[in-house]
Parts: sequence; structure tokens; C-alpha cells
Amino acid sequence: MPTPIIQVTDVRKSYGRGQNRFDALKGVSFDIAEGESVAIIGKSGSGKSTLMHTLALLDAPTSGSIALEGVDTSTLAGRRLNRTRNRTFGFVFQQFFLTANASVLDNVVLPMKIAGVPHAERKRRGMAALEQLDLADKAKNKAVNLSGGQKQRAVIARALVNDPRIIFADEPTGNLDSSTGAVVEDILFDLNRENGITLIIVTHDEDLAARCDRRIVIRDGLLVEDSRPNGPGSADTTHGRHGAEGVAA
Ligand SMILES: Nc1ncnc2c1ncn2[C@@H]1O[C@H](COP(=O)(O)OP(=O)(O)OP(=O)(O)O)[C@@H](O)[C@H]1O
Ligand SMILES: [Mg+2]
Repeated sequence: MPTPIIQVTDVRKSYGRGQNRFDALKGVSFDIAEGESVAIIGKSGSGKSTLMHTLALLDAPTSGSIALEGVDTSTLAGRRLNRTRNRTFGFVFQQFFLTANASVLDNVVLPMKIAGVPHAERKRRGMAALEQLDLADKAKNKAVNLSGGQKQRAVIARALVNDPRIIFADEPTGNLDSSTGAVVEDILFDLNRENGITLIIVTHDEDLAARCDRRIVIRDGLLVEDSRPNGPGSADTTHGRHGAEGVAA
């Protein structure tokens, strides 16, 4: 079995100190295989975003470890950490939304700007991503003037420009009506199937969770369920080997 793309070992995360200390994650362990689609579900306040932020290396765990392709991420710092995050991950998070008054294209090319990609190539790849998401005609519009679904597609375009291995999405369809949400979901699952991008999605939406290979349920900072409803025996054979081992474990 290949090295999992992410290995989470006894991750704990506490906020605050002394009497104000709150243990948001209380020892969580699991692996994610490359190419999997994983839903992280659980009640409000259960620790989903905290877990996602530690997986995405936006926040360090208080203890425990996260390995990315077998490399302990606590050994990454400063520029190496930023470069790893920028090259490996795409983010579809509410808090990294679009810069309202910048153009759609400028928003989409930002990760490449950070990565030091030359201007002409940024533009070419940015336009290609916008075309993929059917937004090329809006490239020059201000981001603020897009509709909700168009904004979310622009966020996905931005998540794609550096050709990420993993897309992290926190409630990607949370603010969308159901038909627009379905379009955004289809885009994410197409990227998973066609480009092999690993999807890690925090959601309250059971239908969205049901489309993922795997569901991880967090309750009060603990992993209480890890199942593969679409794993072994399902029509999807690409992850059969991992799935079979996952069930045996
Ligand atoms: N910076 C912080 N300081 C103190 N407590 C925090 C901080 N961030 C999160 N928490 C607490 O940690 C717990 C888990 O928060 P988290 O944001 O991970 O929940 P969540 O499962 O994503 O919830 P939601 O579904 O509402 O987004 C909550 O009780 C929250 O109040
Ligand atoms: Mg959250």
C-alpha cells in the first residue's frame, strides 16, 4: 500500500490556558490515501474546522503529529511550510474569500503570485482555470459583482491554479441554493475523479457527505465514526484496495 498522503496520529488541539483551556481535539488518528474523497461531519463546535486547519497546516496541533507523504510536518517551518501549503493544497474556505474590489482574474492568480509564477504564465493559467469553471467571461469583473455560485466557482478556480494534490473545503455549498450547490459539488467530484485530487470536505450536508468515498464523524473533539459507505464493493473500484484494508483494520 502506498504511503498515505496524510497520516494523522493522536492529534490534540487546545485553545487558551489554565482555567480557560478548551480541548477542541482530544486525540484523533486516521490516514487519508491519495485520491480519496473524505467528508468530515459533526455538530457545530465539535472540532471539524479545528481539524481541517491542522490538516491544512494552517495551525499546529498542541500535540500529536501530521505527516504529509510520510514527512512529519512539524519539521516544516517558515518559507518551506508556506511553499508546501501553497503548492500542495487548494483552499475553498469562507474565510479566504475573494478580495471584493479586485478583478476575478486577479483573485484567481493570487496563489501563483505568491508562488512567484511569472506574470504571463499566471494570466494564461488563471484564464484556463476560469474557463474550466465557465467563468472566463467574468475575468475582468470585480469579484464583488459575481453571484454567490459564481463566487464559489471563482474560489474553486483559485484553489486549482497551482495544480494542488489536495483540496480542503469547509462548507463549500453552505451559502448556495441547492441547484447551484449541486453544480459546485459536481465540479469538486469531477476534479477528484478525473485529476485524482484528494478532497477533504467539512460539511453539515448529509447528501454531500454521502457522495464522498468516506465519512469521518467528529464528536466533542474525538473521532467517533470512520466509514467507507462508497468504499469496497461499490461501483468505485479505484480505491478498492485501500477500502478493503480499511475494513479489515
Ligand atoms: N481560537 C479559539 N479559541 C478558543 N476556542 C476556540 C477557538 N477556535 C475554536 N474554538 C472552540 O473549539 C471548538 C471547536 O471549534 P470548531 O471551529 O473546530 O468547530 P466546528 O466543528 O468547525 O463547528 P461549526 O460547525 O460551527 O463550524 C468550539 O467549542 C470552539 O468554540
Ligand atoms: Mg467550522
